[in-house]
Parts: sequence; C-alpha cells; structure tokens
Amino acid sequence: MLIEELHSALPHLDFTERKSLSPLCTLRVGGEAEVFTAPSSIEDMKNLFAFVVSRKIPFYILGGGSNVLFPNGLVHGVVISTENLKSIEWRTNLTVDVDAGFKLPMLMKELREKDLAGMEFAAGIPGTLGGALYGNAGAGGRGVCELVDHVLAVEANGEVKMWNNNELDYGYRKCSLADGKRIIVNARMTFRQAKPKDKDVLESYLLRRGSQPHGLHTHNAGCTFKNPEGNSAGKLLDECGCKNLSAGDAVVSDVHANFILNRGNATADDVIRLIEICAGRVYEKTGIKLEPEIKIFAPCSLM
Ligand code: EPU
Repeated sequence: MLIEELHSALPHLDFTERKSLSPLCTLRVGGEAEVFTAPSSIEDMKNLFAFVVSRKIPFYILGGGSNVLFPNGLVHGVVISTENLKSIEWRTNLTVDVDAGFKLPMLMKELREKDLAGMEFAAGIPGTLGGALYGNAGAGGRGVCELVDHVLAVEANGEVKMWNNNELDYGYRKCSLADGKRIIVNARMTFRQAKPKDKDVLESYLLRRGSQPHGLHTHNAGCTFKNPEGNSAGKLLDECGCKNLSAGDAVVSDVHANFILNRGNATADDVIRLIEICAGRVYEKTGIKLEPEIKIFAPCSLM
C-alpha cells in the first residue's frame, strides 16, 4: 500500500488516504487522491520529493486549486499540496521572501498595508503565489514572474535550487519552471513605494475583474482558454454563441464567455466536453485554435 510505504519512509509527515479533491479546487470537480499530503516546511518537501521521485511514484503538485481540473474517480499516486508552506518574511522595506502556499490576495493586502506597488495587475487573482508563478498569472500583458528576484524550487534530487530571474524563461501564461520536474517553494520579490496613480491602475484592474462571474455560488476556474495573440478568447467565444452552452452540469457563463461554471454536480468529463465543444465552435467559425488555460490534472513521474 502506497500510504504505508510513505508512512514508514517519512514517519513525521501527515498522509491522508482517499482525500476528496473537489473541495480543493475552485471548480469543485474531481474524485479522490489515493494519498494526499501538505508538508509544512521546505525540509519536509525536500525529503518527500526525493523519496517520491526515487520510488517513481506518480505525483501531482497542487497550489490554490483555482486553475485546475481534477479527474473524477481515483487519482493514483500522491497529491502534494503547498497549502502549509505559507510564511512571509520581509527582508527590507521593499523586498520580501514569500512561500509558495501564501495566497496571492493576502500578498496584495500586505502590499496595500505597506503602501507598496508593482503588482496592481494581479488584483483579484485568486490562488497561491506558487501557482501564480507556475502559470505566470497576470493581466494586461504583465505577469507575476517579472516581479521575482529569484525563485527557490525543490529539484528532483531533493536539493533546493535558487533560480535567478534572468535564468527563467517566462511569457504570457508560461514559465520555464513549470515542467513538472520541481516544486516551487519560495520566491523573493521586490516592490516599490506606491504613487498616487497606482491606486487608479489597481481600480482599473478591479473594474475589469468586475465583468467576470463572481460571488459565492459561481464555482469556476478562471479563464478557460488563453487569449490567442492579438485577440480575446472571451470575445471570440461570445461572438461564436458559446454563452450558456452546457454539458451536464458544466455551463458557459452568460456574463463572460471565457468562464465555465459548475452548476452543482459537474464532472471533469462534463467540463472537458464543454471545453471541446467551445473550442470546436470557435475553430469552425474563425479558424482560430484556442488553447486551454485550465490545467487538466495529469500525473508527473520522473522516470
Ligand atoms: N468580451 C466579450 N464577451 C465576453 C467576454 C469578453 O465581448 O463574453 C470582450 C470584452 O468586452 C473586452 C474583451 O472581450 O472587450 C476582453 O475581455 P476582458 O476585458 O474580460 O479581458 P480578457 O482578455 O477576457 C484577461 C485575462 C483575465 C483577466 C482579465 C482582466 C486571459 C485569458 N484572461 O481577460 O484573466 O482577469 O484580462 O484583466 O488572459 C484568468 O487568466 O483566469 C483570467 C481571468
């Protein structure tokens, strides 16, 4: 049994068997993890990752769950969450070391309290810093990766490597660290003193966020597709009549066509079917191939 193997190799870590995954993602879809664990220190993460890789155990890294789609049924292997890596340590007035599991909205709050600026474009983005770096989350042509001085990642051999900003290759919704071979655990970021106009920029991003579905009962995973170069996926989907299309309990928002909502009991298959229907429609009508932004959970194993 996998859980017994993990317990005996790493006795001071907590492991949960058959952990329900849907509460761990904002879309509220998914089955169970064979084993789930959320190490609370970088040291524990190092030991765990080295063991999992050496034993060729399939693994999945989970951040805030705001951009992922878990499959239904049993997910074999171990789901490793960064939710307990959540420390934040200010090094100077402007520079901070933040753990991967620290929530992005909490970081925005810290910046507001300290009157710092530089990350206004991330206003309203949910999830954790680690997930945001993994997908270079952002808006308006900006992305979180551009703000890091360096990133610390646990590599497959169990060592912590420091990646300086100039060693990273990042762009629109992509970052070279996101190749399934490491776990982002911490980042050093530098901000600047806020100027009066930063508040207006922040407001303008919040205003754009206001045109997206929000509220307690709108379970979704953010934008479904990436924007194709020079175009807007939401606009294309809207023009192709995708609003309100549905598959099972998954439905395209009538507020913003690039959002899929879970009406209650959607399965991963419903969501995937709806993604395919929407992408098919847009391709048929415009010849443009939309690329999903939502990460469909697939196992990593470094064989
Ligand atoms: N539009 C429509 N119909 C729709 C949706 C949008 O006509 O159903 C039009 C809007 O009126 C606007 C244009 O499309 O003229 C662009 O829409 P919006 O301003 O909502 O921005 P977006 O390009 O759809 C991007 C990011 C969002 C981010 C917003 C706001 C991507 C894929 N999306 O959306 O990020 O919140 O800008 O800054 O890059 C996410 O990545 O999960 C996400 C939500």
